[in-house]
Amino acid sequence: MTDETDRKPAPGASTNRRRFLTGTLAGGAAIAASGGEAFAQRKRKPIGPNPDNQPPNVPEWSKVLGDGVASHPYGKPSKFEAHVVRRDVEWLTASRESSINFTPLHELDGIITPNGLCFERHHGGAAVVSPFDHRLIIHGLVDKPLIFSMDDIKRFPRTNRVHFLECAANSGMEWRGAQLNGCQFTHGMIHNVMYTGVLLKDLLNEAGLKPTAKWLQVEGADSSGMNRSLPIEKALDDCLIAFKMNGEALRTEQGYPLRLVVPGWEGNLWVKWIRRIEVGDKPWFAREETSKYTDLMSDGRSRRYTFVMDAKSVVTNPSPQAPFTAKGRNVLTGVAWSGRGHITRVDVTLDGGRNWREARIDGPVLDRSMTRFYVDFDWAGNELLIQSRAHDSTGYVQPTKQELRAVRGVNNIYHNNGIQTWLVRANGETENVEIS
Ligand code: MTE
Ligand code: CO
Repeated sequence: MTDETDRKPAPGASTNRRRFLTGTLAGGAAIAASGGEAFAQRKRKPIGPNPDNQPPNVPEWSKVLGDGVASHPYGKPSKFEAHVVRRDVEWLTASRESSINFTPLHELDGIITPNGLCFERHHGGAAVVSPFDHRLIIHGLVDKPLIFSMDDIKRFPRTNRVHFLECAANSGMEWRGAQLNGCQFTHGMIHNVMYTGVLLKDLLNEAGLKPTAKWLQVEGADSSGMNRSLPIEKALDDCLIAFKMNGEALRTEQGYPLRLVVPGWEGNLWVKWIRRIEVGDKPWFAREETSKYTDLMSDGRSRRYTFVMDAKSVVTNPSPQAPFTAKGRNVLTGVAWSGRGHITRVDVTLDGGRNWREARIDGPVLDRSMTRFYVDFDWAGNELLIQSRAHDSTGYVQPTKQELRAVRGVNNIYHNNGIQTWLVRANGETENVEIS
């Protein structure tokens, strides 16, 4: 399996957003229907305001006993939140197994992505792996090859880290122009999770690295294998072999029972269902990355070794799926992240870049983690052109899309960290646009 499916231009990919809307309506319809929301609304009683449940009346739920403690051994979100789901775009990839769905960023707050809403990217579907039979093998240029059971791994010292995982293809559909109408689709190939695991360094040292060890080939237990090459410096620095996410066991979709965590680096290296690490003296690029995960430039040359995810941000509210519904007091919010350090500042403009103000950062500001920002303001009901711009601890400032294209061209789908623009119309309707 390869990532070639990522590269197929989807219908309308080379057009601007307006042509996309009129010319390929099927695509738009797929987005609306794919998450099941429209279907669910047809099947269930419509959920919405009911004056009988509002003051001065006594609401129906105050008149009856609620469910007992044995009713929900594993809790789920309220039925009123049924629309908060991962969504996929049917026409984006050729198959459902080698495909992707998107985190509903516009429905979330704070910095942690709930486990059930973390986007999924599989090349061979989500493998169901028994923790009783799963093993991690370390071999190659080591003193003693080792096979670890899950119990063996859990006896090493544990560490907890909050990190974002961003697919290199996040925002890839937007290289040529504004395309998908919602931050879930433009920016939702990211999640931010607290991992519990052990340091990869400790496992490698247990096996004993030979002096010639330079690269690891890492393999997953799913049908795709997802073989990836990882430089030894990164492996010995801060990589984790994780078995918990946000306190509980990894979800099947995220690599249960074991995944590699590669802080700040592109998602394809974060091998799920990790089963084998072969230590070698060179990358295995001949078998893999030569044709994949390189950034094709306008002059035909490719950028390689673009492992680190540069600083990026997006305003999640308002956005096309979550428009403002009233004038006056409003909360603008979004997230920023950087694979090179922590976020030091986020600027927001409401007028397409003429005036910038510093957003208020709230909540933990962690190394290579999502950071939450807010702008609390009164909306007069005028048209807005909203953008956010992230700064990180290396001094790097998020570029505009024009700046990125000037350097990299448009024949590329990876590593698009350009500034996103939302047009808010007077009626609140919000659209993905680009301004020059
Ligand atoms: N690991 C295995 N074994 N198989 C895969 O298909 N996909 C990779 C990576 N690790 C993949 C994998 C890619 S391209 C990404 S972006 C991330 O997993 C996605 O992780 P997630 O599904 O937890 O969001
Ligand atoms: Co990916």
